[in-house]
Amino acid sequence: MSLKEKLVRDKLPGHVAIIMDGNGRWAVRKGAARIFGHQNGVTPVDEVVKASAELGLRYLTFYAFSTENWARPAEEVDALMGLLVSTIKKETKKLLDNNIKLRTVGDLSKLPGATRRELLQLVDTTSANTGLTVILAISYSSRNEIILAARQIIKDAVEGKITAAEMNFDTFENYLQTSGIPDPDLLIRTSGEYRLSNFLLYQLAYTELYFTSKLWPDFRAEDFYEALLEYQNRERRFGKTSQQL
Ligand code: IPE
Ligand code: IPE
Ligand code: MG
Repeated sequence: MSLKEKLVRDKLPGHVAIIMDGNGRWAVRKGAARIFGHQNGVTPVDEVVKASAELGLRYLTFYAFSTENWARPAEEVDALMGLLVSTIKKETKKLLDNNIKLRTVGDLSKLPGATRRELLQLVDTTSANTGLTVILAISYSSRNEIILAARQIIKDAVEGKITAAEMNFDTFENYLQTSGIPDPDLLIRTSGEYRLSNFLLYQLAYTELYFTSKLWPDFRAEDFYEALLEYQNRERRFGKTSQQL
């Protein structure tokens, strides 16, 4: 039986988040420039999106660029922004054909104009789609997201739009960039790094974490199925005992 056939359909995660890591090392090991690794990181994105749509997952989030990544050499940042635009252009038809909706989280105002326009255009073009939602985290920082939420809450409180007593998990989540998106059930990080790197710190409170030493450009649908299978073997207790579940 293939890995895909082993998956139990009604035990699939609704939302998978992925920290795509290891592009640079993959390229360096091949004696190439780091950007070659980023270029080869597009195929795994394609495969995972296709696999997720086929399986009927609802949400798929990719960490594509962190606010901290702006500190990389300008040459690498420029190449990544260019790659983003060319990939978007290439993927538009596929997203539309497969009823996939695109959303973004992060501070898009920092992006080069052309990149931002292409991105917002595609978000707009796919906004009525009802299948899988793909969320791109670009120029994203979880701590920044939380600070922005705090600022807006203070403003709204000063203007009398919200009271302290009204603040709870549901109202707080409305202030996050992920508003309306359920928390990830499964987080995958490639390249053998065991950290969150400022990704979805609030939203990952009860997410199952999966780490693989594979570098992102080598990650394929089979590796994705393997992570999903492992997820299905986890017991999510949310603080309760096994007996209570
Ligand atoms: C992940 O790969 C992609 C981005 C952060 C944009 P890296 O570029 O971080 O690759 P490594 O970790 O240096 O190998
Ligand atoms: C995290 O990877 C960000 C993305 C995958 C976009 P990094 O490679 O930037 O993370 P650190 O710096 O190793 O923690
Ligand atoms: Mg990295």
